[in-house]
Amino acid sequence: MEIIIQPDSQQASQVAARIVARTVREKPHAVIGLATGNTPLQLYRILVEMHREQGLDFSGVTCFNLDEYLGLPQAHPSSYHSYMWAHLFSLINVAKERIHIPDGLAQDIPASCRKYEQAIRSAGGIDVQVLGIGTNGHIGFNEPSSSLQSRTRIKTLTDETRRSNAAGFGSEAAVPTHVITMGLGTIMESRLCLLLAFGKKKARAVAQTVEGPVTAMVPGSVLQMHPRAILVLDREAASELKMAEYYSWVYEHKPGWQKY
Ligand code: PGA
Repeated sequence: MEIIIQPDSQQASQVAARIVARTVREKPHAVIGLATGNTPLQLYRILVEMHREQGLDFSGVTCFNLDEYLGLPQAHPSSYHSYMWAHLFSLINVAKERIHIPDGLAQDIPASCRKYEQAIRSAGGIDVQVLGIGTNGHIGFNEPSSSLQSRTRIKTLTDETRRSNAAGFGSEAAVPTHVITMGLGTIMESRLCLLLAFGKKKARAVAQTVEGPVTAMVPGSVLQMHPRAILVLDREAASELKMAEYYSWVYEHKPGWQKY
C-alpha cells in the first residue's frame, strides 16, 4: 500500500486528481471507477477545472460507479445518479453511453448485477477505482462481514451507515435500507485502487485498513492484498497510523519519476 499524507483535504484531492488525470492522458479510453459521498467532491471539482482549463479530455473514458440505493429513481435528489450528474458528468465531456451506475430500480436484481459485472469486463476492466471509506471501514457499500471475494450484489446497510448518510434524506428513517454495490472482489480487480479519506472521524477506519489484520470486519483492509492501492489522506485521517512518519518520509523522498 502506498500511503500519501497531505496537510489538508484540498491538497490530498490535488494529488488524487493528478493520478486520475495522468491515467486519462496516458490512456484516452481509460475505464474509471467512481465513488460518491462527501470525500470525492473536491477531487471532482479539480477534474472539472482540469477539463475546462487544461482540456483534460474525457470523451473516450468509460465510467463505472460503485453503488446506488435500491428503490430510488434516478431523478431522486439523493440518488447517486443525481449526485454524479450534478458534480461531474454534466460538467465534463464524458459520453452518456459510457456512464454506468447500478440501477436502483432493477426488477431482477441478480440479473442486473450480473450485467454490471459483464459490462465492466467488456470495457476491459477498471484502470483506476476511486474509493472513499466509511467510519466502519466499508468501501463501496460493502459493510463489515462482506465476503472479501464478493461481486456486485444487493447489500443491507448498517445503522451506522444509514446515520452517516441521513443528511441527504432529511432523516435516518428515510435512508433506503438496501443498495446495489460492486463487491470487494470486483473492486480488487481494478488495476489501481485510489482511496481518499479525510477528517478525524475516518482515522480509526484508516488505521485498521492499513495497519490492522485483513478481515471482513474492516472491508477496506482487503486492499492490503491489492498490488497497487494508494491511500491519499489528510493529516487528521492519518492521525491514528502508527507508521505515519515513515509513510511521509517515503513520499517526500520518492524519485521524481515516481511522484504524482
Ligand atoms: P463520505 O462517505 O465520503 O461521505 O464520508 C464515504 C463512504 O461511506 O464510503
